[in-house]
Amino acid sequence: MTKNNRTTLIVATATLLLFSSPHSNAFSPSAASVASRHVESESSSPIALHAHSANRRGFLATGGMMAVTSFFPQIKLAFANDGVDYKAVAKDIMDLVKDDPDKGPTLVRLAWHSSGTYDKTTGTGGSGGGTIRFKEELAHGGNAGLGDTAVKWLEPIYAKYDGLSYADLYTLSGVAAIKAMGGPTIGWSSGRVDQPVEFVTPDGRLPNADSGPALADKSDADHIRSIFYRMGFNDQEIVALSGAHALGRCHTSASGYDGPWTPTPTTFNNAYFTILTSLKWVPKDWSGPPQYVDGATGKLMMLPTDYVLLKDKSFLKWVNTYAKDAKNFDTDFATAFQKLEENGTKNLKATEWV
Ligand code: HEM
Repeated sequence: MTKNNRTTLIVATATLLLFSSPHSNAFSPSAASVASRHVESESSSPIALHAHSANRRGFLATGGMMAVTSFFPQIKLAFANDGVDYKAVAKDIMDLVKDDPDKGPTLVRLAWHSSGTYDKTTGTGGSGGGTIRFKEELAHGGNAGLGDTAVKWLEPIYAKYDGLSYADLYTLSGVAAIKAMGGPTIGWSSGRVDQPVEFVTPDGRLPNADSGPALADKSDADHIRSIFYRMGFNDQEIVALSGAHALGRCHTSASGYDGPWTPTPTTFNNAYFTILTSLKWVPKDWSGPPQYVDGATGKLMMLPTDYVLLKDKSFLKWVNTYAKDAKNFDTDFATAFQKLEENGTKNLKATEWV
């Protein structure tokens, strides 16, 4: 029996029990209407079946768990996140990266984009609801290219583990991929409960690579600050997080930009900073979006938002710090990345994953 069938069977049984049970007042009318709205709206999702199961599971785990488990205590594990072997999940993710190292950076980008919608003022967005699984969020400009790649690669792993939420899977993918690429072991917590499509935040919360006039200028620094301050980060954390661009590359088929930032795009290191500070950057001569390439070979690239870290005094101080001290970068990156993945989440539990 597949995870979907199993979950659907359990959900059907549990729903019957809830309505016939003497404890059925645990199933409040407001929760019932929320649950049926989830199902309706998710039928538009390309991965609607999984999404239904996940949200029903999340809903039951909270609203109806007590009533269900008082009848069938043995089915509790099917709902509780505690039953998931996160070390096995992380190993599966790391195996994906070992088999194809180019997948590592894209998994890190998925983890970041699943979290980077957080708004500290309203408490909305963030990784907690796993909403990047919906085509509505994947259609946001900044998410170009993620639906056909990282989200798809993780589907078999999601299907394999009962009780695993997409939200936990996407964030675990970030830390596991970084580890698989030689990076630090980053603290990670489990317990995110997938939320319905209504929780997708408006487009525009992720950073653009160029704002205002073409190529780096003050408007790019202002833009980065407005996006990352909204999430509760400061200048040091912005620069540390930007060091993730040591990994991977821009794809003309996704963002329109082109090329890797470093010659070692599948190894986590501080090369983003050493290269940013040591090479001469010139505007790329092409018909694509304005970006920089290294003057000597034209093979490495920087986005306007990368280059502006050199032009802004407060950012530059941290760029120089991390270029000189790889250990300091590892530590600060790990702290900032964990914060990124936990922003806006509730009731998480620190979890050993490696
Ligand atoms: C100012 C902020 C940022 C901007 C404007 C930005 C922009 C971009 C763009 C345009 C791409 C290329 C996507 C593609 O064509 O496939 C990219 C890739 C990437 N970004 Fe960022 N990014 C930012 C911050 C971050 C942060 C904070 C992280 C992680 C902590 C991150 C991790 C990555 C990774 C790993 C890739 C490579 C993906 C791959 O190879 O498929 N970025 N970014």
